[in-house]
Amino acid sequence: MNTRRLLLASATAAALLAPFAASADTIKIGFITSYSGLNGNLGPYMERAARLYMKQHDKDLPKGTTVELLVRDDTGTNPDKAKQLAQELIVRDKVQMLAGVIFTPNALAIAPLATEGKVPFVIMNAGTSVITTRSPYIARVSFTLWQSTYPLGQWAAKKYKTAYTMVSDFGPGIDAEDAFTKGFKEGGGNMTGSVRVPVNNPDFAPFMQKVRDAKPQALMVFVPAGVTATAVMKNYSDLGLAKAGVKLIGPGDITTDEELDNMGDVALGALTVHHYSAAAQRPANKAFVAAWKKEYGAKETPNFLSVASWDGMDMIYYAIKEQKGKVDPEATMGLFKKYKNANSPRGPIAIDPETRDIVQDEYLREVRKVGGQLQNVEIETIAKQVKDPWKTFNPPK
Ligand code: PHB
Repeated sequence: MNTRRLLLASATAAALLAPFAASADTIKIGFITSYSGLNGNLGPYMERAARLYMKQHDKDLPKGTTVELLVRDDTGTNPDKAKQLAQELIVRDKVQMLAGVIFTPNALAIAPLATEGKVPFVIMNAGTSVITTRSPYIARVSFTLWQSTYPLGQWAAKKYKTAYTMVSDFGPGIDAEDAFTKGFKEGGGNMTGSVRVPVNNPDFAPFMQKVRDAKPQALMVFVPAGVTATAVMKNYSDLGLAKAGVKLIGPGDITTDEELDNMGDVALGALTVHHYSAAAQRPANKAFVAAWKKEYGAKETPNFLSVASWDGMDMIYYAIKEQKGKVDPEATMGLFKKYKNANSPRGPIAIDPETRDIVQDEYLREVRKVGGQLQNVEIETIAKQVKDPWKTFNPPK
């Protein structure tokens, strides 16, 4: 059955099943993230950020308006499940917006439903560049892999003569490989090899062995943030790559803040480029991290998925307030395209109205020990107000 017929069929069923529609002033947001499967530990970093934002800002909503999150588990990289959930949320639960989504394949599966149902869809993680081109109802508040790994490649070319890439074999990994390679080669660097590893249950050891034998000066890695990043770090150390003089670099996904304790000292010295570190000294970030610890415990830390969810909720609340609580999909998208925040925990951000993708600064960071704690210490702002480079190099035809 095609999407339209499926939607219509479910709509009929839903009309019979849901006699009690929500009151007009409750805005329902279908929040899809991962609580199980690959890196299922990441879901709470998104949901907690959204709930913390709501707790602080519900008072700013127009009088009589409430926001309700309908949270769903897409079980990891599972486009069929993501599609099914989005469809139920749109047709049965009648959500006015969709939000969340960690994995690119899931975001791509939801995109046509957002278009079909005219449901604004705020992407709070999935980072493959092409995603936003798949529906005019998508706005992305997270990042693209091109935003971090293209400047990383340009920077690395000034420091290393040879590099190798190792990436997870799916959208964001392929983007990271392409972007780094372009930046590194343009800067005069020489790529000595590249390898793609399976997304699910990868055994990094044989790949690391290959890299060690090739002896590049730098190894650029992308794997999804979360427990996979810790597995990479352990293999890099166990197989003696650091001792062999191979420097580990990558986007911030590989030194994701919440895993640093699990990684331990093997992560020390890893150099990454990213838009967010929980250790950033900006006042807005200090306030964000302090609120997080107060709410969830002194040992807890937000990560880049948290800041995207926080900012995403800020964008959603802005659209709701501007429309005085009566949201319309076209007006909402128009407002998303105008969204700006000079004072996000990650620094100044805006939505590019042409592409509906985030514009943000990128920082060079190093894993260091500060007060006995491993942190992604921001060393310099390596690129300011970066628009997705892939879209600049591949303009719409
Ligand atoms: C993605 O699927 O787009 C993705 C997943 C995890 C990341 C980054 C991107 O850390």
